[in-house]
Amino acid sequence: MKSSFYLSSKEVFLDIVDAKEYVQLDRVSTLYQSLKDSVKKPLKMILLYGKPGTGKSMMLNKLYEDLKENQKVIMYHTPLVDETEFLKSLARDIYGVRPFEELNFTQFNELSEHYEFDNTPLVLLDEAQLYSTSLMEKIRLISDARKIKFVITLHKTDDKEDIIAKEHFQTRIWESLELHNASSAELKIYIQKKLMKNNCFDVANMFDNKNVKCIHKITSGNYRDTNKLLDSLFSIYDWYEDNQPTKINYSNISNKFIEMAAIKTGFINA
Ligand SMILES: Nc1ncnc2c1ncn2[C@@H]1O[C@H](COP(=O)(O)OP(=O)(O)OP(=O)(O)O)[C@@H](O)[C@H]1O
Ligand SMILES: [Mg+2]
Repeated sequence: MKSSFYLSSKEVFLDIVDAKEYVQLDRVSTLYQSLKDSVKKPLKMILLYGKPGTGKSMMLNKLYEDLKENQKVIMYHTPLVDETEFLKSLARDIYGVRPFEELNFTQFNELSEHYEFDNTPLVLLDEAQLYSTSLMEKIRLISDARKIKFVITLHKTDDKEDIIAKEHFQTRIWESLELHNASSAELKIYIQKKLMKNNCFDVANMFDNKNVKCIHKITSGNYRDTNKLLDSLFSIYDWYEDNQPTKINYSNISNKFIEMAAIKTGFINA
């Protein structure tokens, strides 16, 4: 069996959202704390937004894992864009009532009148930009009636019709938190902590500030793009290890290899 120095490092950067792989970074931790505080407040809706790949799903998953022991919390990873399906799922997951052929909004509201909770149930909705305006309005009404609290995440786009500018996001029931790309310093911690979490200590130590600066220049500190770049970087290292091992310097990551990986992934043009 083939054993590679770099292959296990490659696995570290697969684009998988798993709360167990969550890394604490200064700014991210502060934001996460605000999110946890917001969830405790009598706010009805909390919005987590940011560009793709800034860690929204990751943070939502982490919140779910941290809260689920102590309160009623439901997480919908993929949007239930069909209104009936959405309401039926809420009825099932929150109130434990099943089979409805149909369940319209009025019927859902009537149903929810029959239940009281010490703690308002919390529903986490990922990818909320995919919900229709009409369903978003209903979500707003449900939360406004204090039946369910929602945390929703959505992409921030540069579109002229910015979703956050829409009416249902402007009422005072909202608190919004924005996630950003990593700074260079944060990116270094991100890369090293991820590797160390997976016992790749030697490889973690091979990244210096120059490498991180180079990576940051290519990915702007976007976590998903950084994952892609590093996945490709470790494939390149793996190839050299098999074919031209003398070209590898085991004390440092090579910026030339990082640039090769950037070309291979299409981040820069050859
Ligand atoms: N705090 C973190 N700890 C560990 N990994 C992270 C963290 N934040 C982001 N990542 C990594 O970055 C990847 C992208 O993050 P995520 O999928 O959460 O982005 P997103 O903001 O939800 O993007 P999209 O808007 O496209 O849904 C994740 O697969 C994960 O590997
Ligand atoms: Mg996401």
